[in-house]
Amino acid sequence: MKKIIIGNWKMNPTSIKQASKIFSSVSSGLKNKNIEVVVAPPFVYIEKLKKISKKVSIASQDASFIDKGPYTGEVSGEMLREIGVKYAILGHSERRHMGEDNELINKKIKSVLFSGVTPVLCVGEDDRDDNHEYFNFVKSQLLECLKGIKKDSISKVIIAYEPVWAISTTVDRRDATAHDCEEMVIFIRKVISSITSPVLAKKIRILYGGSVNDRDAGEFLTKGGVDGLLVGKASLDPKKFLKIVNICEVSKN
Ligand code: PGA
Repeated sequence: MKKIIIGNWKMNPTSIKQASKIFSSVSSGLKNKNIEVVVAPPFVYIEKLKKISKKVSIASQDASFIDKGPYTGEVSGEMLREIGVKYAILGHSERRHMGEDNELINKKIKSVLFSGVTPVLCVGEDDRDDNHEYFNFVKSQLLECLKGIKKDSISKVIIAYEPVWAISTTVDRRDATAHDCEEMVIFIRKVISSITSPVLAKKIRILYGGSVNDRDAGEFLTKGGVDGLLVGKASLDPKKFLKIVNICEVSKN
């Protein structure tokens, strides 16, 4: 299966002109055939960016829990699929901090799957404790977010492990190591296996995210046991982002 690198632009940049410039630089610098490169821009830039290049797939940074109706401000998976969006990042820690819980994320995953968009479910603990309770925390996130979803559909979901304590905007953040990542990836596969099957759990794609840059991307890809990366800050710099993509192309795990 192809590795996948997703750039999460968050609420950046502030103009469509800058967005187009970053996107054009990324797509024109891409020479990689064995990796899927995805950008998740703010909703309002999606249509314009889709017209610039087809080499880069598009993800949304969120999607609604419902397909249509009187829900002011919401954008549905159905609408996103219609304009060519392939993936939807759901349950990002920044949205969880704004009040989203596992129950709402579960509804969003179901709605997005129904519309034919692939969910990228973000999980990850706020901090680590000596008793290793963070494993149970991530387990609950997975079980509650994937509750009531058919086994085959679960295997289509991409899981992004993003320890909040390693994300670039977290105050007093720390670097996660490839080992931190690897042990959680093994654990995530075990949890997925318990609700699907060992065969399906092997198929599911797991990404790492949390201040990934061109210096440590290789380490996570070769030793972290992941199938790709979710890159925030560094994805707004086309040179850095392309470097990460190139590192992914040559890394083998
Ligand atoms: P970061 O963001 O790479 O800037 O830490 C990752 C994310 O929050 O998805």
